[in-house]
Amino acid sequence: MSATLLDGKAFSAKVRARVADHVSTLKSEHDIIPGLAVVLVGEDPASQVYVRSKNRQTVEAGMNSYEHKLDASASQDELLALIAQLNADPAVHGILVQLPLPDHIDSNMVINAISPAKDVDGFTIANAGLLFTGQKSMVPCTPLGCLMLLRDHHGSLAGLNAVVLGRSNIVGKPMAQLLLGDSCTVTIAHSKTKDLAEVCRSADILVAAVGRREMVPGDWVKPGASVIDVGINRIDAGDGKTRLVGDCDFASCSEVAGAITPVPGGVGPMTIACLLANTITACCRANG
Ligand code: GUN
Repeated sequence: MSATLLDGKAFSAKVRARVADHVSTLKSEHDIIPGLAVVLVGEDPASQVYVRSKNRQTVEAGMNSYEHKLDASASQDELLALIAQLNADPAVHGILVQLPLPDHIDSNMVINAISPAKDVDGFTIANAGLLFTGQKSMVPCTPLGCLMLLRDHHGSLAGLNAVVLGRSNIVGKPMAQLLLGDSCTVTIAHSKTKDLAEVCRSADILVAAVGRREMVPGDWVKPGASVIDVGINRIDAGDGKTRLVGDCDFASCSEVAGAITPVPGGVGPMTIACLLANTITACCRANG
């Protein structure tokens, strides 16, 4: 391996320490404790793991964590009523509804019921529109975490060719906007893109967010490029256990790239750290 490892685990620990300092100042000087409400509907195992981790890290940072678990059969009206209650609660500064939601619930309607000021995921149309128009917004946590790693490694990103592989509302689209905001030349590639390998090889920065295990081989990577692997895919490790792999084939990509995020320990921990940072931002804005 010749690439520099972009260590999200270590970087996120620094972000969380800064958040904890800020929380401590808010408490001691203003008697304010930031609060994050996390809503989980149903029993999706991966979502349960994420929500547990979010709650634990929220409490470790000194904030209040409010966990709301609804049965998979909960109605959309029940969920909307809970969101209305959280929107009105002054102790709750951030609201996160864990996705995916069960099929009988309209995710767009639910997300857009969250007050934009408390939308720490940055998923509401209001926040997406602000980001799209280059205005101050709540920025989705995973792309924000990727941007922080890239800025830390490169300094300025201006003029670099960035290829974002994947066009989801959660990662691909906001990631492209953030890179554009940092003056990259941005391409969004996806399953219908022609000459995908060639497009990827044009990237100084390649962000893979497609959710397909080890889809990007080393010969899609430009020598010296920075590879940000957003994928978290659980695979059979062959010994009755499972292990996590990304959307990039780490062994071959790390031979060619200049810098690369590992899976696990790259983008994943940055996402939760950015969620905590967004909750502080929401709390500070709510309190002037
Ligand atoms: N499911 C997978 N990633 C996310 C995320 O960043 N936020 C929420 N709310 N749900 C998710």
